[in-house]
Amino acid sequence: MYTPAQEKEYLDLSRRMLATPEPQTQEDADKIVKDLRDAIRFHDWRYYVQAEAVITDFDYDQLFKRLKDIEAQYPALMLADSPTQRVALGLTEEFVAVEHNLPMLSLDNSYNEADITEFDTRLRKLVGTEGIEYCVEPKFDGSSIALVYENDVLVRAATRGDGVMGEDITNNAKALKSIPLRADFSKYGIVKAEVRGEVIIRNEVFSAMNENRRELGLKTFQNSRNTAAGALRLKDSAEVARRGLEAIIYQIGYAVDKDGKNVLGNGIESHFESIQTLYKLGFNAPVKELGKYTTVQQIVAHCAEWEEKRNSFPIEIDGMVIKLDNYEKQQQTGSTSHHPRWAIAFKFKARQAHSVLERVEFQVGRTGAVTPVAKITPVPLAGVTIGSISLHNEDFILEKDIMLGDTVLVERAGDVIPYIAGVITTARTGNEIPIIFPRECPSCNSTLVKPDGEAIWRCVNLDCPVQQEERIIHFVSKGAMDIEGLGKDIVRRFLAEGIIKQVQDIYQLDYDHIGRLEGWKERSVNNLKHGIEASKSQPLWKLFTALGIRHIGNTTAKVLAKKVKSALDYQTWTQEQLMELEDIGPKVAESVYDFFHTEANIQLLTELQQLGVNIETKLEEVQPANNKLDGKSFLFTGTLTKFTRDEAQGLVEQNGGKLISGVSKNLDYLVAGPGAGSKLTKAQSIPTIQIIDEDVFLEMIS
Ligand code: IVH
Repeated sequence: MYTPAQEKEYLDLSRRMLATPEPQTQEDADKIVKDLRDAIRFHDWRYYVQAEAVITDFDYDQLFKRLKDIEAQYPALMLADSPTQRVALGLTEEFVAVEHNLPMLSLDNSYNEADITEFDTRLRKLVGTEGIEYCVEPKFDGSSIALVYENDVLVRAATRGDGVMGEDITNNAKALKSIPLRADFSKYGIVKAEVRGEVIIRNEVFSAMNENRRELGLKTFQNSRNTAAGALRLKDSAEVARRGLEAIIYQIGYAVDKDGKNVLGNGIESHFESIQTLYKLGFNAPVKELGKYTTVQQIVAHCAEWEEKRNSFPIEIDGMVIKLDNYEKQQQTGSTSHHPRWAIAFKFKARQAHSVLERVEFQVGRTGAVTPVAKITPVPLAGVTIGSISLHNEDFILEKDIMLGDTVLVERAGDVIPYIAGVITTARTGNEIPIIFPRECPSCNSTLVKPDGEAIWRCVNLDCPVQQEERIIHFVSKGAMDIEGLGKDIVRRFLAEGIIKQVQDIYQLDYDHIGRLEGWKERSVNNLKHGIEASKSQPLWKLFTALGIRHIGNTTAKVLAKKVKSALDYQTWTQEQLMELEDIGPKVAESVYDFFHTEANIQLLTELQQLGVNIETKLEEVQPANNKLDGKSFLFTGTLTKFTRDEAQGLVEQNGGKLISGVSKNLDYLVAGPGAGSKLTKAQSIPTIQIIDEDVFLEMIS
């Protein structure tokens, strides 16, 4: 936090920095670089934490550019916490698992006054009623993050993961300007601290992002929570910077002084104080949103008030969090393995919307299943507009007593999938019409079939045009053969124009003919050609997924791909043999057996192979080829001479081991090369860690 006097000071500094001449010496440059960094840090805080800029974009960019130029000219002056380093780190190959210093627990939930009273009564029994106070703050609906600062510098950012192990996303976190790269913890005698919070996307940013994607013809995002979580795991930190993420920090997980002694409860006494401290340190902490209360009635009233203003609050919140304020008391209550006893979430009711059921479409899928889809008057709900909702099957319609013209209550399961929670029968006028489920396929008119005990009506005509279309769309889709340049609409057009009739035709296209079609240019033809060629070498499991064998998803496809040399080998497998495979039960075994005992399917595979499509197991599919490393964890430190760090990590994974990023009791092997430093020293103090060199490691996997 900057005081008004400091604000003025940094504004003056910025003005001066825009006008200073080029540095002549390294000393000169050192001073200018420091001032530029201070000025930029101030403006980042002013804009990203205070939400109001006090400099024009142009001037800010000038400051940034100057800093970048001088750092490039004097590389010795570069520091990891320089603002230029936020997105300078480029691509992350993979996110390494890291252990949290303290587990990141969940929260217990409450839904009404009675639940909160119970929570309060429980706590009063545990810590006494004297001086009991609660902090109440919004429960931000994003993706949790843990930031570790050492000697005032951000050294690690991790996702929550399973609460014990998260993923190291430091590079990406640095791209968020609301996360300070350095913070003055030392002012509080803190040498190492972990702060926790939520990465969110503001509602207006989320809507604008979706609007933009719609215009570009890209798939829109479902909700800001999943979008934030996805963005944090992007490989390109420059792209992360463009996603408009913000971090709200609501907790100091731990803080220790130079002797490793806990500072919390001994300097910072309560949650309330920690939020103020975080704010002063420059974090986006919910100071304004924090309330402090003593009675259940006050808490309930505060929660109700927030539920009321939830829709006008600029950030998605899905409830409130009630926290016992005093740290000493928190300590007394302790935690279960799932949640702390000193806190509870008060969950808001699911968001609902009313709309009218205009019509029902019956859609035929690639397996012939006929699904009724409700078309409702489009209605906004939790950040997106809903116009279509699956009604699943005939029984669902009957059970919910849904009629055409009904006013329906819409909710989104997990804030993603819309569903009809019920019908407002009191809104009926008498003009509603029952929904008649067809008995014939809407695409090919053949009689639908519904085996006893099943809920789904199916078209069993394999030549049904819509099924064929859906099968091809599935074949080329991202999760299957992933053919770039051949989207749904193009498949539909090619089918309609007779350019393709079946899957095999994709690999025998007449590109000259396509080039002459309306709307096709050389570039799009090349793109398509390239996409199709590339798909020929997809691994076998992708082909297994693409074939649309019933009950076979990615996981089973991977199991199947590992067990044979060629797809055609399954022709000789019995159902019993199939059932011996991991995760394969009688239903799946029967389906696989049937598939490989159907002449047309064998014909298809043979033709695909003749057309150059890979139908054999590739080496990487059978990896880990062995379990030589047997789930053991590894860390590499010092100089490696026989392989690069990336190669070493690849070897660990291929042999069934796992990688962790820090020395802890969870580490099994530290592979130390020449020049190993602090990691080696630390590992030597933990008796269960085996310290080995490269050669021993190679022996383990040979
Ligand atoms: S306190 C020990 N405070 O909710 C638990 N959590 O369901 C400490 N969350 O994983 C969490 N806003 O990611 C806390 N103001 C807030 C929060 C909050 C959102 C998330 C957090 C946690 C989840 C638990």
